Amino acid sequence: MNKHKFIVNSHARIQTEFTHGKGMHLFDGKIKYLDFMSGIAVNSLGHCHKKIVKALTKQAKKLWHISNLFYNSEMDYCAETLCRATGMQNVFFCNSGSEAMETSIKMARKFFQDQGEYKYEIITCQNSFHGRSITNISASGEAAYTKSFYPLLEGFKRVEYGNIEELKNAITEKTAAVIIEPIQGEGVLNFAGWDYLQKVSQITKESGVLFILDEVQCGAGRTGRFNAFQWANIQPDIIAMAKGIGNGFPVGATLFSERTKNVITVGSHGTTFGGNPLAMAVVNATCTEISNPKFLANVQEQSVYIKEKLNTLHQAFPHIVKEIRGFGLMTGFMIQEKYNAKTIADALFTNKLIVTTARNNVIRLLPPLIVEKKHIDDAMEVIVKVFQSL
Ligand SMILES: Cc1ncc(COP(=O)(O)O)c(C=O)c1O
Repeated sequence: MNKHKFIVNSHARIQTEFTHGKGMHLFDGKIKYLDFMSGIAVNSLGHCHKKIVKALTKQAKKLWHISNLFYNSEMDYCAETLCRATGMQNVFFCNSGSEAMETSIKMARKFFQDQGEYKYEIITCQNSFHGRSITNISASGEAAYTKSFYPLLEGFKRVEYGNIEELKNAITEKTAAVIIEPIQGEGVLNFAGWDYLQKVSQITKESGVLFILDEVQCGAGRTGRFNAFQWANIQPDIIAMAKGIGNGFPVGATLFSERTKNVITVGSHGTTFGGNPLAMAVVNATCTEISNPKFLANVQEQSVYIKEKLNTLHQAFPHIVKEIRGFGLMTGFMIQEKYNAKTIADALFTNKLIVTTARNNVIRLLPPLIVEKKHIDDAMEVIVKVFQSL
Protein backbone atom coordinates (compact mmCIF):
# COMPACT_ATOMS: atom_id res chain seq x y z
CA MET A 1 0.00 0.00 0.00
CA ASN A 2 1.29 3.46 -0.85
CA LYS A 3 0.73 5.08 2.53
CA HIS A 4 -0.53 8.70 2.52
CA LYS A 5 -0.80 8.94 -1.27
CA PHE A 6 -4.29 10.39 -1.00
CA ILE A 7 -3.77 12.29 2.25
CA VAL A 8 -2.40 15.84 2.30
CA ASN A 9 1.02 16.32 3.80
CA SER A 10 -0.16 18.36 6.80
CA HIS A 11 1.41 16.27 9.58
CA ALA A 12 4.71 14.45 10.05
CA ARG A 13 2.90 11.19 10.72
CA ILE A 14 4.52 8.26 12.50
CA GLN A 15 4.01 5.16 10.34
CA THR A 16 2.75 2.92 13.16
CA GLU A 17 -0.98 2.20 12.88
CA PHE A 18 -2.70 1.56 16.18
CA THR A 19 -5.30 -1.17 16.05
CA HIS A 20 -7.07 -0.46 19.32
CA GLY A 21 -6.84 1.26 22.67
CA LYS A 22 -7.75 0.46 26.24
CA GLY A 23 -7.41 2.73 29.25
CA MET A 24 -3.88 4.13 29.38
CA HIS A 25 -2.64 2.06 26.45
CA LEU A 26 -2.66 1.98 22.67
CA PHE A 27 -1.95 -1.21 20.75
CA ASP A 28 -0.38 -2.05 17.43
CA GLY A 29 -1.65 -5.61 17.31
CA LYS A 30 -0.03 -7.15 20.35
CA ILE A 31 2.53 -4.39 20.82
CA LYS A 32 1.50 -2.18 23.73
CA TYR A 33 2.28 1.52 24.06
CA LEU A 34 1.83 3.65 27.17
CA ASP A 35 -0.06 6.78 26.19
CA PHE A 36 1.26 10.01 27.74
CA MET A 37 -0.12 12.16 24.94
CA SER A 38 -3.88 11.44 24.92
CA GLY A 39 -4.13 12.52 21.28
CA ILE A 40 -2.85 15.95 22.46
CA ALA A 41 -4.91 16.30 25.64
CA VAL A 42 -8.05 14.71 24.24
CA ASN A 43 -8.59 11.19 25.65
CA SER A 44 -9.22 12.47 29.15
CA LEU A 45 -10.75 9.18 30.33
CA GLY A 46 -8.33 7.05 28.34
CA HIS A 47 -9.22 4.78 25.47
CA CYS A 48 -12.60 3.09 25.14
CA HIS A 49 -13.81 3.95 28.64
CA LYS A 50 -16.78 1.70 29.40
CA LYS A 51 -19.20 4.47 30.39
CA ILE A 52 -18.37 6.54 27.33
CA VAL A 53 -18.66 3.62 24.92
CA LYS A 54 -22.03 2.84 26.51
CA ALA A 55 -23.27 6.44 26.24
CA LEU A 56 -22.19 6.65 22.58
CA THR A 57 -23.61 3.30 21.49
CA LYS A 58 -26.88 3.90 23.35
CA GLN A 59 -27.29 7.24 21.58
CA ALA A 60 -26.15 5.77 18.24
CA LYS A 61 -29.13 3.42 18.34
CA LYS A 62 -31.56 6.27 18.99
CA LEU A 63 -30.65 9.39 17.03
CA TRP A 64 -27.53 10.84 15.42
CA HIS A 65 -28.33 14.19 13.92
CA ILE A 66 -31.32 16.47 13.71
CA SER A 67 -29.99 20.05 13.09
CA ASN A 68 -30.01 22.93 15.51
CA LEU A 69 -33.45 23.88 14.24
CA PHE A 70 -34.93 21.32 16.64
CA TYR A 71 -34.88 20.99 20.42
CA ASN A 72 -32.37 18.43 21.59
CA SER A 73 -32.60 17.34 25.22
CA GLU A 74 -29.11 15.75 25.09
CA MET A 75 -27.76 19.22 24.39
CA ASP A 76 -29.72 20.64 27.28
CA TYR A 77 -28.32 18.08 29.76
CA CYS A 78 -24.85 18.57 28.43
CA ALA A 79 -24.96 22.38 28.65
CA GLU A 80 -26.27 22.11 32.20
CA THR A 81 -23.42 19.77 33.15
CA LEU A 82 -20.86 22.22 31.74
CA CYS A 83 -22.50 25.26 33.37
CA ARG A 84 -22.71 23.55 36.76
CA ALA A 85 -19.05 22.58 36.52
CA THR A 86 -17.85 26.06 35.52
CA GLY A 87 -20.26 28.62 36.99
CA MET A 88 -21.13 29.83 33.49
CA GLN A 89 -24.69 30.48 32.28
CA ASN A 90 -25.11 29.03 28.79
CA VAL A 91 -23.24 27.26 26.01
CA PHE A 92 -22.81 27.29 22.24
CA PHE A 93 -21.66 23.92 20.96
CA CYS A 94 -19.47 23.46 17.89
CA ASN A 95 -16.98 20.88 16.64
CA SER A 96 -13.46 21.94 17.59
CA GLY A 97 -11.30 24.22 19.68
CA SER A 98 -10.76 26.52 16.71
CA GLU A 99 -14.47 27.05 16.32
CA ALA A 100 -14.95 27.59 20.04
CA MET A 101 -12.31 30.32 19.86
CA GLU A 102 -13.74 31.77 16.65
CA THR A 103 -17.12 32.04 18.38
CA SER A 104 -15.50 33.71 21.42
CA ILE A 105 -13.81 36.35 19.27
CA LYS A 106 -16.88 37.04 17.14
CA MET A 107 -19.06 37.36 20.20
CA ALA A 108 -16.67 39.69 22.04
CA ARG A 109 -17.04 42.12 19.14
CA LYS A 110 -20.80 41.63 18.92
CA PHE A 111 -21.21 42.19 22.65
CA PHE A 112 -20.03 45.80 22.31
CA GLN A 113 -21.17 46.56 18.78
CA ASP A 114 -24.76 45.57 19.69
CA GLN A 115 -24.61 48.30 22.32
CA GLY A 116 -23.46 50.86 19.75
CA GLU A 117 -19.82 50.80 20.89
CA TYR A 118 -17.37 50.14 18.06
CA LYS A 119 -14.91 48.02 19.98
CA TYR A 120 -13.07 45.38 18.02
CA GLU A 121 -9.50 45.08 19.29
CA ILE A 122 -8.57 41.82 20.95
CA ILE A 123 -5.47 41.52 23.11
CA THR A 124 -3.73 38.15 22.98
CA CYS A 125 -0.41 36.79 24.20
CA GLN A 126 2.86 36.07 22.49
CA ASN A 127 3.44 32.34 22.09
CA SER A 128 -0.30 31.69 22.22
CA PHE A 129 -2.10 29.12 20.13
CA HIS A 130 -5.82 29.29 19.45
CA GLY A 131 -6.30 27.14 16.37
CA ARG A 132 -5.68 27.20 12.65
CA SER A 133 -8.46 29.33 11.16
CA ILE A 134 -7.44 32.71 9.75
CA THR A 135 -9.00 34.39 12.80
CA ASN A 136 -7.11 32.21 15.23
CA ILE A 137 -3.73 32.45 13.53
CA SER A 138 -4.25 36.23 13.38
CA ALA A 139 -4.99 36.15 17.11
CA SER A 140 -1.82 34.24 17.87
CA GLY A 141 0.33 36.09 15.33
CA GLU A 142 3.10 33.50 15.69
CA ALA A 143 5.17 33.23 12.51
CA ALA A 144 5.02 29.43 12.62
CA TYR A 145 1.26 29.60 12.00
CA THR A 146 0.92 32.79 9.93
CA LYS A 147 3.64 32.36 7.31
CA SER A 148 2.19 32.53 3.76
CA PHE A 149 -1.36 33.25 4.97
CA TYR A 150 -1.35 37.04 4.62
CA PRO A 151 -3.23 39.31 4.92
CA LEU A 152 -4.25 38.42 8.44
CA LEU A 153 -7.38 39.63 10.16
CA GLU A 154 -7.04 43.11 11.68
CA GLY A 155 -7.56 44.09 15.26
CA PHE A 156 -5.26 41.85 17.29
CA LYS A 157 -2.59 43.19 19.63
CA ARG A 158 -0.09 40.93 21.31
CA VAL A 159 1.47 41.34 24.72
CA GLU A 160 3.99 39.27 26.62
CA TYR A 161 2.34 36.38 28.49
CA GLY A 162 2.57 37.06 32.22
CA ASN A 163 3.32 40.78 31.81
CA ILE A 164 0.59 42.74 33.57
CA GLU A 165 1.98 46.23 32.89
CA GLU A 166 2.17 45.60 29.16
CA LEU A 167 -1.40 44.32 29.19
CA LYS A 168 -2.65 47.36 31.09
CA ASN A 169 -0.96 49.69 28.63
CA ALA A 170 -2.36 47.84 25.63
CA ILE A 171 -6.01 48.41 26.56
CA THR A 172 -7.64 51.29 24.66
CA GLU A 173 -11.19 52.52 24.12
CA LYS A 174 -11.31 50.15 21.13
CA THR A 175 -10.46 47.02 23.12
CA ALA A 176 -13.22 44.43 23.26
CA ALA A 177 -11.45 41.55 24.99
CA VAL A 178 -8.34 39.96 26.39
CA ILE A 179 -7.69 36.30 25.61
CA ILE A 180 -5.49 34.18 27.84
CA GLU A 181 -4.59 30.49 27.94
CA PRO A 182 -4.24 29.85 31.70
CA ILE A 183 -1.38 27.51 30.78
CA GLN A 184 0.04 27.90 27.28
CA GLY A 185 0.11 24.50 25.59
CA GLU A 186 1.77 24.80 22.20
CA GLY A 187 3.62 27.83 23.64
CA VAL A 188 5.99 25.49 25.48
CA LEU A 189 3.89 24.91 28.63
CA ASN A 190 4.23 28.48 29.88
CA PHE A 191 2.49 29.00 33.18
CA ALA A 192 2.47 32.46 34.75
CA GLY A 193 0.71 31.52 38.00
CA TRP A 194 -2.81 31.99 39.29
CA ASP A 195 -2.17 35.53 40.55
CA TYR A 196 -1.56 36.50 36.92
CA LEU A 197 -5.10 35.36 36.03
CA GLN A 198 -6.45 37.19 39.09
CA LYS A 199 -4.75 40.41 37.99
CA VAL A 200 -5.99 40.05 34.41
CA SER A 201 -9.48 39.47 35.77
CA GLN A 202 -9.24 42.61 37.88
CA ILE A 203 -7.90 44.75 35.02
CA THR A 204 -10.57 43.57 32.59
CA LYS A 205 -13.29 44.22 35.19
CA GLU A 206 -12.01 47.72 35.90
CA SER A 207 -11.76 48.60 32.21
CA GLY A 208 -15.01 46.89 31.21
CA VAL A 209 -13.17 44.72 28.68
CA LEU A 210 -14.29 41.10 28.29
CA PHE A 211 -12.07 38.38 29.72
CA ILE A 212 -11.91 35.30 27.46
CA LEU A 213 -10.15 32.14 28.54
CA ASP A 214 -8.92 29.59 26.07
CA GLU A 215 -9.25 26.38 28.10
CA VAL A 216 -9.25 24.15 25.02
CA GLN A 217 -6.13 22.32 26.19
CA CYS A 218 -5.85 23.05 29.92
CA GLY A 219 -9.55 22.61 30.76
CA ALA A 220 -11.66 19.49 31.30
CA GLY A 221 -9.93 18.35 34.47
CA ARG A 222 -6.34 18.45 33.24
CA THR A 223 -5.14 20.61 36.13
CA GLY A 224 -7.15 18.86 38.84
CA ARG A 225 -10.02 21.34 38.73
CA PHE A 226 -12.74 21.09 36.11
CA ASN A 227 -11.28 24.22 34.54
CA ALA A 228 -7.85 25.68 35.21
CA PHE A 229 -9.23 29.17 36.00
CA GLN A 230 -10.97 27.75 39.06
CA TRP A 231 -7.59 27.65 40.84
CA ALA A 232 -7.56 31.43 40.58
CA ASN A 233 -11.06 31.79 42.01
CA ILE A 234 -12.18 34.11 39.22
CA GLN A 235 -15.08 34.07 36.78
CA PRO A 236 -14.31 34.91 33.12
CA ASP A 237 -16.84 36.34 30.67
CA ILE A 238 -16.32 33.70 27.96
CA ILE A 239 -14.58 30.31 27.96
CA ALA A 240 -13.60 28.19 24.96
CA MET A 241 -13.40 24.44 25.57
CA ALA A 242 -12.90 21.38 23.36
CA LYS A 243 -10.48 18.42 23.33
CA GLY A 244 -10.93 16.67 26.72
CA ILE A 245 -14.66 17.33 27.08
CA GLY A 246 -15.32 14.90 24.21
CA ASN A 247 -12.74 12.24 25.13
CA GLY A 248 -12.10 11.77 21.41
CA PHE A 249 -15.46 12.72 19.94
CA PRO A 250 -14.88 15.95 17.95
CA VAL A 251 -16.61 18.75 19.84
CA GLY A 252 -16.11 22.32 21.00
CA ALA A 253 -18.02 24.60 23.34
CA THR A 254 -18.09 28.32 24.04
CA LEU A 255 -19.45 29.13 27.48
CA PHE A 256 -20.98 32.47 28.40
CA SER A 257 -21.32 34.23 31.76
CA GLU A 258 -24.18 36.23 33.26
CA ARG A 259 -22.76 39.31 31.51
CA THR A 260 -22.42 37.76 28.05
CA LYS A 261 -25.17 35.13 28.04
CA ASN A 262 -27.49 37.04 25.68
CA VAL A 263 -24.89 37.96 23.07
CA ILE A 264 -25.80 35.17 20.65
CA THR A 265 -29.16 35.93 19.14
CA VAL A 266 -31.22 33.99 16.61
CA GLY A 267 -29.45 34.02 13.26
CA SER A 268 -26.28 35.75 14.51
CA HIS A 269 -24.19 32.57 14.61
CA GLY A 270 -24.72 28.93 13.79
CA THR A 271 -23.46 25.48 12.99
CA THR A 272 -24.74 22.38 11.23
CA PHE A 273 -23.19 19.72 13.44
CA GLY A 274 -22.43 21.53 16.70
CA GLY A 275 -24.28 19.94 19.61
CA ASN A 276 -25.47 16.91 17.71
CA PRO A 277 -26.97 14.19 19.94
CA LEU A 278 -24.04 11.79 19.51
CA ALA A 279 -21.51 14.40 20.62
CA MET A 280 -23.74 15.56 23.44
CA ALA A 281 -24.22 12.06 24.84
CA VAL A 282 -20.44 11.62 24.92
CA VAL A 283 -19.68 15.06 26.39
CA ASN A 284 -22.31 14.67 29.06
CA ALA A 285 -20.98 11.27 30.14
CA THR A 286 -17.35 12.47 30.00
CA CYS A 287 -17.90 15.71 31.87
CA THR A 288 -20.10 14.07 34.52
CA GLU A 289 -17.18 11.74 35.23
CA ILE A 290 -14.52 14.47 35.16
CA SER A 291 -16.44 16.90 37.36
CA ASN A 292 -16.72 14.32 40.15
CA PRO A 293 -14.64 15.73 43.08
CA LYS A 294 -13.11 12.28 43.67
CA PHE A 295 -11.93 12.10 40.08
CA LEU A 296 -10.41 15.58 40.30
CA ALA A 297 -8.76 14.76 43.64
CA ASN A 298 -6.99 11.85 41.94
CA VAL A 299 -5.81 14.13 39.12
CA GLN A 300 -4.35 16.44 41.78
CA GLU A 301 -2.65 13.53 43.52
CA GLN A 302 -1.13 12.26 40.28
CA SER A 303 -0.06 15.81 39.39
CA VAL A 304 1.94 16.06 42.61
CA TYR A 305 3.49 12.66 41.96
CA ILE A 306 4.49 13.39 38.37
CA LYS A 307 6.03 16.72 39.47
CA GLU A 308 8.11 14.93 42.13
CA LYS A 309 9.29 12.41 39.54
CA LEU A 310 10.10 15.15 37.04
CA ASN A 311 12.12 17.01 39.66
CA THR A 312 14.07 13.83 40.38
CA LEU A 313 14.66 13.41 36.65
CA HIS A 314 15.88 17.01 36.44
CA GLN A 315 18.32 16.43 39.29
CA ALA A 316 19.62 13.22 37.75
CA PHE A 317 19.98 14.56 34.20
CA PRO A 318 20.66 18.30 34.42
CA HIS A 319 22.73 18.06 31.22
CA ILE A 320 19.56 16.98 29.34
CA VAL A 321 16.65 18.54 31.29
CA LYS A 322 16.80 22.32 31.45
CA GLU A 323 13.63 22.92 33.47
CA ILE A 324 10.28 21.45 34.46
CA ARG A 325 7.28 23.22 32.98
CA GLY A 326 3.48 23.35 33.05
CA PHE A 327 0.97 22.50 35.75
CA GLY A 328 -1.15 19.52 36.75
CA LEU A 329 -1.25 16.79 34.12
CA MET A 330 -0.26 19.35 31.51
CA THR A 331 3.38 19.14 32.28
CA GLY A 332 6.77 18.24 30.85
CA PHE A 333 10.30 19.49 30.53
CA MET A 334 12.43 21.78 28.45
CA ILE A 335 15.61 20.19 27.19
CA GLN A 336 19.07 21.67 26.87
CA GLU A 337 19.96 23.37 23.57
CA LYS A 338 22.11 20.59 22.21
CA TYR A 339 19.17 18.14 22.18
CA ASN A 340 16.12 18.02 19.95
CA ALA A 341 12.66 17.28 21.34
CA LYS A 342 11.49 15.33 18.29
CA THR A 343 14.55 13.05 18.46
CA ILE A 344 13.84 12.34 22.13
CA ALA A 345 10.10 11.82 21.51
CA ASP A 346 10.95 9.37 18.70
CA ALA A 347 13.32 7.45 20.99
CA LEU A 348 10.61 7.28 23.68
CA PHE A 349 8.17 6.01 21.06
CA THR A 350 10.62 3.30 20.02
CA ASN A 351 10.55 2.31 23.70
CA LYS A 352 6.74 2.23 23.64
CA LEU A 353 6.07 5.51 25.43
CA ILE A 354 3.96 8.05 23.55
CA VAL A 355 4.59 11.73 24.31
CA THR A 356 4.28 14.91 22.30
CA THR A 357 6.53 17.93 21.86
CA ALA A 358 6.13 21.70 21.83
CA ARG A 359 8.48 23.56 19.46
CA ASN A 360 11.81 21.76 19.24
CA ASN A 361 12.79 22.03 22.88
CA VAL A 362 9.93 20.80 25.07
CA ILE A 363 8.62 17.30 25.78
CA ARG A 364 5.01 17.41 26.88
CA LEU A 365 3.44 14.77 29.11
CA LEU A 366 -0.33 14.79 28.69
CA PRO A 367 -1.51 11.42 30.03
CA PRO A 368 -5.18 10.48 30.21
CA LEU A 369 -6.54 11.76 33.54
CA ILE A 370 -7.10 8.19 34.71
CA VAL A 371 -3.32 7.82 35.07
CA GLU A 372 -2.03 6.05 38.18
CA LYS A 373 1.32 6.14 39.98
CA LYS A 374 2.39 2.87 38.40
CA HIS A 375 1.96 4.38 34.92
CA ILE A 376 4.00 7.42 35.92
CA ASP A 377 6.71 5.09 37.26
CA ASP A 378 6.65 3.13 33.99
CA ALA A 379 6.91 6.32 31.93
CA MET A 380 9.82 7.60 34.04
CA GLU A 381 11.62 4.30 33.65
CA VAL A 382 11.43 4.63 29.86
CA ILE A 383 12.55 8.26 29.97
CA VAL A 384 15.56 7.35 32.15
CA LYS A 385 16.46 4.49 29.81
CA VAL A 386 16.35 6.82 26.79
CA PHE A 387 18.31 9.53 28.61
CA GLN A 388 20.99 7.02 29.52
CA SER A 389 21.33 6.09 25.88
CA LEU A 390 21.72 9.67 24.63
C1 LIG B 1 -5.19 26.31 23.57
C2 LIG B 1 -5.75 25.82 22.27
N1 LIG B 1 -6.72 26.51 21.66
C3 LIG B 1 -7.28 26.12 20.51
C4 LIG B 1 -6.86 24.96 19.90
C5 LIG B 1 -7.47 24.54 18.60
O1 LIG B 1 -8.25 23.41 18.78
P1 LIG B 1 -8.63 22.46 17.53
O2 LIG B 1 -7.37 21.82 17.07
O3 LIG B 1 -9.62 21.49 18.12
O4 LIG B 1 -9.25 23.32 16.51
C6 LIG B 1 -5.85 24.19 20.49
C7 LIG B 1 -5.37 22.96 19.84
O5 LIG B 1 -4.32 22.43 20.14
C8 LIG B 1 -5.28 24.63 21.71
O6 LIG B 1 -4.31 23.95 22.31
